[in-house]
Amino acid sequence: MEISFYLPTQVRMGRNIVERSAQALAGFGKRAMLVTGRSSAVKCGAQADVTAILEKNGQTWVVFDQVMSNPTVDCVYAGAELARREGADFLIAIGGGSPMDAAKAIALLARQEIAPGDLFKGEFTGDVLPMVHIPTTAGTGSEVTQYAILTNDAAQTKTSLSGPMLFSDLALLDGKYMMGLSHRTTVNTAVDALSHVVEGMLSVKANPTTDLLAADAIRRITGNYQGLLSDTLTVEQRDELLYASMLGGAVIAQTGTTAVHSMGYSLTYFWGTDHGRANGLLMAEFAQVLLQRGYDKTREVLRLMGMDSPAAFRTWLDALLGERETITDAEVEKFSSIAIQAKNIANCPVVLTKEELAGVYRKSFGLA
Ligand SMILES: [Fe+2]
Repeated sequence: MEISFYLPTQVRMGRNIVERSAQALAGFGKRAMLVTGRSSAVKCGAQADVTAILEKNGQTWVVFDQVMSNPTVDCVYAGAELARREGADFLIAIGGGSPMDAAKAIALLARQEIAPGDLFKGEFTGDVLPMVHIPTTAGTGSEVTQYAILTNDAAQTKTSLSGPMLFSDLALLDGKYMMGLSHRTTVNTAVDALSHVVEGMLSVKANPTTDLLAADAIRRITGNYQGLLSDTLTVEQRDELLYASMLGGAVIAQTGTTAVHSMGYSLTYFWGTDHGRANGLLMAEFAQVLLQRGYDKTREVLRLMGMDSPAAFRTWLDALLGERETITDAEVEKFSSIAIQAKNIANCPVVLTKEELAGVYRKSFGLA
């Protein structure tokens, strides 16, 4: 048996956990920079909870609220510049995957001189600003991963920076911040979390520990299917999805993601498709191609979801995702050429060809 498992983030979950973490936050530094999107951190109440604690602790703060969906390289350099100028000695990311990922890149760039052209080259080591992550969606699991995924215009896709010091120091999880999420965001982020655990189980780097976590997360996500469909999730069910999403992060921190993520990035880069939705559109056909190639563990994953075939998985996803986009032959060619070069393709348990990736795109969008 071979096991490798590393997760240095302290995870604290519970109702009002931010208010209950005053002491933990006090140790981080004198001046925080809050890294957020334009409005979500304020709207869900998390930002007010954080600043109330900082004030009580005698800590000051500055807000960088310029993180857009699928953050750009320019955005993280601007954040790092503000952190330096303001003398921030730690970061608090509040938001979904975009602010949480941007904060990791900002933590790195605030402490190290890295040219934009070198940002996507290899793993990083060395000093970063200390980080606290507070997710306000239940999907990315970024609060417990070492990845920061940014828009990479040179390669026309999204690319991850990674390194062991990009793990957050403290993750604070409270499902109450998700009660105001739109139905679409709730669904898309839950599908992203599901893709992490499905891909995690179907990665060459999967091991018994990651499978244990993935299976539990699969059970919790599929167990909340009716609430997801009808948009009637209670705060306890939100907690369960948030917990599953964190487990998904813990899994992909070890296993990486696979072809679903590689292929989904093109849908996001070229069409603007939400990340979780992009994965959901491709996941069932990915399972199908793995089965065709004789990778039997795929059946175990389907069985954990209560499904007997990739077709049943597709029906399950369709009810959540609604009508699918259309794709052209030229797009299939372009997207599969880009995806085959992605680094996470190597995590697939069978070596997929560009033609097989093209087949997944075609079947996912009904192109014969
Ligand atoms: Fe993802």
